[in-house]
Amino acid sequence: MARRGHSAWLPLVAVLLFAAAAATTEGCCSGKLPPGRSFQRCTSLPVLGASLYWTYHPRNGTADVAFRAPQSSGGWVAWGINGNQSAGMVGAGVFIASQDGAGAGAVAVLTTVLESYRPSLTNGSLKFDVPVPPAAEYVDGAYTIYATVALPMNSTVQNTVWQAGPGSTGAIRKHATSGQNMQSVQKLDFLAGETIGASNSTTP
Ligand SMILES: *[C@@H]1O[C@H](CO)[C@@H](O)[C@H](O)[C@H]1NC(C)=O
Ligand SMILES: *[C@@H]1O[C@H](CO)[C@@H](O)[C@H](O)[C@H]1NC(C)=O
Ligand SMILES: *[C@@H]1O[C@H](CO)[C@@H](O)[C@H](O)[C@H]1NC(C)=O
Ligand SMILES: *[C@@H]1O[C@H](CO)[C@@H](O)[C@H](O)[C@H]1NC(C)=O
Repeated sequence: MARRGHSAWLPLVAVLLFAAAAATTEGCCSGKLPPGRSFQRCTSLPVLGASLYWTYHPRNGTADVAFRAPQSSGGWVAWGINGNQSAGMVGAGVFIASQDGAGAGAVAVLTTVLESYRPSLTNGSLKFDVPVPPAAEYVDGAYTIYATVALPMNSTVQNTVWQAGPGSTGAIRKHATSGQNMQSVQKLDFLAGETIGASNSTTP
């Protein structure tokens, strides 16, 4: 009796395991990260073909992030956080990856606060802590930016921004101001892993 009861559970367990596996890959990104780079969570961002991988550390309020986006070798990509609970570009602290001209695939990262819609792009510190120097790579037509950030105000919900545009290190040019380039804002819950509405959403 006990044996029969036990075996009856096996198909259910198998179904549950399958469901759990599906749940962890759902909404996750294609594309492998290099050895030594692994993250607990991943989401496909709604525009610009971008993906975000991250691990949130509740003990110290930091998040390790990998931002990946396709781009030609003549362009740059960026990811960042607008730490004052305001959405959008102005006021955001961002990491911009671009080809630095020092050889094929050599990528530099600029760390800058976007002061206005015509930012100075001064390489400097952000208004939130960046405890580990950022890094980036360009492989197979996509940049990946690796950054560690102390989430502003130790809040797990942040307004994130990302972007792609033309130009190389020292000659970053303006991104397009239409279509997907105007929709690359998203409120992200680093703890729950949920995205909370998109910039172009008409509902609050
Ligand atoms: C934050 O915590 C994580 C996990 O414990 C640790 O790996 C990381 O070094 C810590 N970062 C800082 C800046 O203390
Ligand atoms: C950030 O918040 C977490 C969770 O509430 C808390 O445990 C941690 O001590 C806080 N860290 C900092 C640096 O304030
Ligand atoms: C938020 O805005 C205030 C006032 O402008 C500024 O002092 C502070 O550094 C900002 N914080 C972040 C994380 O951007
Ligand atoms: C910005 O400054 C950091 C730290 O000095 C440096 O590693 C990085 O290459 C600089 N980025 C650019 C684009 O010059």
